[in-house]
Amino acid sequence: MLTDKNEFCSHIKNVLISEEEINKAVDACAKDLSLEYEGKPLLLVSILKGAFIFLSDLTKRMTIPCEVAFMAASSYYEGTSSSGEVTITYDISRDISQYHVVIVEDIIDTGRTLSEIVKILKGREPLSLKVVTLLDKPERRVVEFEADKSLFTIPDKFVIGYGLDYSECYRNLPYIAEYGE
Ligand code: IMP
Ligand code: MG
Repeated sequence: MLTDKNEFCSHIKNVLISEEEINKAVDACAKDLSLEYEGKPLLLVSILKGAFIFLSDLTKRMTIPCEVAFMAASSYYEGTSSSGEVTITYDISRDISQYHVVIVEDIIDTGRTLSEIVKILKGREPLSLKVVTLLDKPERRVVEFEADKSLFTIPDKFVIGYGLDYSECYRNLPYIAEYGE
């Protein structure tokens, strides 16, 4: 646990995406979704924990009714490298077949988590299924996967902030920064 402020800040190498840039992109994304799903039953499915801030900011800006649900998957152990195996640790309990589902994710890295989640949710036959991600790291892909909408494409760097963590820390930063030792 990091409790010392100096230790906390020492791992913030540089800011990649500012709070202002994020706000603008989330605004535009909410506008697009509000137009696209007007008059349709919409369920936003957020993948915990990383996407919790993105989902929260996005839903506040939506101008149409929408419902939210959560799933959690673990593919990362401690640190910055992927374990390769995706386990669903928390699932949606309700029937999604009467909804247009939009998955709201923080980042697509290897692509393993989302390809697994998309496979599972498609099997439950929603009215439609799309994926929106805040960040995309295409250089790191191990399995083929493309989001329907990606707000920012970033290089192969481990990032923190705006929901994303390093060993459970830094999720509360209002911007996206590169993590450095
Ligand atoms: P995947 O490799 O595409 O399956 O991504 C799995 C998960 O790893 C993402 O949903 C994030 O929660 C996490 N992750 C991937 N890259 C980063 C990063 O740069 N910083 C923090 N978390 C990350
Ligand atoms: Mg995630």
